[in-house]
Amino acid sequence: MRVFLTGASGMVGRNAKSHENARQFDILGPTRQELDLSDFEGVVKFLKKNKPDIIIHAAGKVGGIKANIEDPYGFLIENITVGINIIRAAKECGVSRLINLGSSCIYPNDRIIPLRETEILTGPLEPTNEGYALSKILAIRMCDYISDQFSELNFKSIIPCNIYGPFDKFRDDSAHLIPAIIHKVHQAVISGNETVKVWGDGSARREFMFAGDLGGFLWEACNRFDSLPQIMNVGLGHDYTIKEYYEAVSSVIGFNGQFEFDPSQPTGMKRKLTCTKQSIKWGWTPNTELIQGIKQTYEYYKSL
Ligand SMILES: NC(=O)c1ccc[n+]([C@@H]2O[C@H](COP(=O)([O-])OP(=O)(O)OC[C@H]3O[C@@H](n4cnc5c(N)ncnc54)[C@H](OP(=O)(O)O)[C@@H]3O)[C@@H](O)[C@H]2O)c1
Repeated sequence: MRVFLTGASGMVGRNAKSHENARQFDILGPTRQELDLSDFEGVVKFLKKNKPDIIIHAAGKVGGIKANIEDPYGFLIENITVGINIIRAAKECGVSRLINLGSSCIYPNDRIIPLRETEILTGPLEPTNEGYALSKILAIRMCDYISDQFSELNFKSIIPCNIYGPFDKFRDDSAHLIPAIIHKVHQAVISGNETVKVWGDGSARREFMFAGDLGGFLWEACNRFDSLPQIMNVGLGHDYTIKEYYEAVSSVIGFNGQFEFDPSQPTGMKRKLTCTKQSIKWGWTPNTELIQGIKQTYEYYKSL
């Protein structure tokens, strides 16, 4: 099967490509230099030339809470542009199967946990990542409309929870929670600091899945595409407090100091846990334990 993987040089893309099951597929993963997805005509030309059997759309502008708060316009416009281009070009070129990656940020911020797929567009979005969420919702709805209107086209969306792992971003404002913690705690250890500062009071809960597990899921989704639901959460199904993530990283790195909580800083939604009933029914669950995943991620961090 020939797979066009967008965002192949990103964290999700690289973990997918390095998964053992990737070898079953002929993967096309052009870099941004080889194919800028904001160029619609370029995308059409690429699809006509390469004729993929399926597209996994895993490209986009992705970042942590600080980056999202500072640049909602950038997150909205870049993701909308790339999403529309890929989905529209796939439709126009007759690529019959597409897996679009959404994000659990698309869920309303006032729901009872766990978040079910039917709750999309039923309430207010979390303001700290609204631009990003709107762009993701638009792409999901485009896929739904196309699948409904054109029987020969099946464009489906998955909604991964937060992801961490090797190839993550650790040092800049784009860093997500776990890589940012790894960087902070590692720095504290090597510089002999006794305290590590934490945004918020540490009680907000987050669901983080190891990126290698998502990689494995994507290849299984290609193999069993027809049975994949139209929209499906792909998550752990359980979560940890931010304080617990700090403690887990500290135990892996060997930090024995204190955490200094700063409740004046934003932490986003208090809780964001996806409902995994559909994915369990579909026959898939992630299998990497948190400590094991943090160890692998820390090994990658140290190799940089
Ligand atoms: N990371 C998470 O926690 C998480 C959670 C849920 C869902 N997701 C979704 O998973 C997908 C991948 O996320 P990620 O964490 O792998 O992000 P990432 O590491 O930032 O990778 C994004 C990839 O998209 C590429 N890209 C962006 N704009 C492009 C353009 N105009 N043309 C060509 N390539 C472009 C980037 O290329 P460059 O390297 O050239 O910039 C990069 O390869 C996104 O759709 C995201 O919403 C991620």
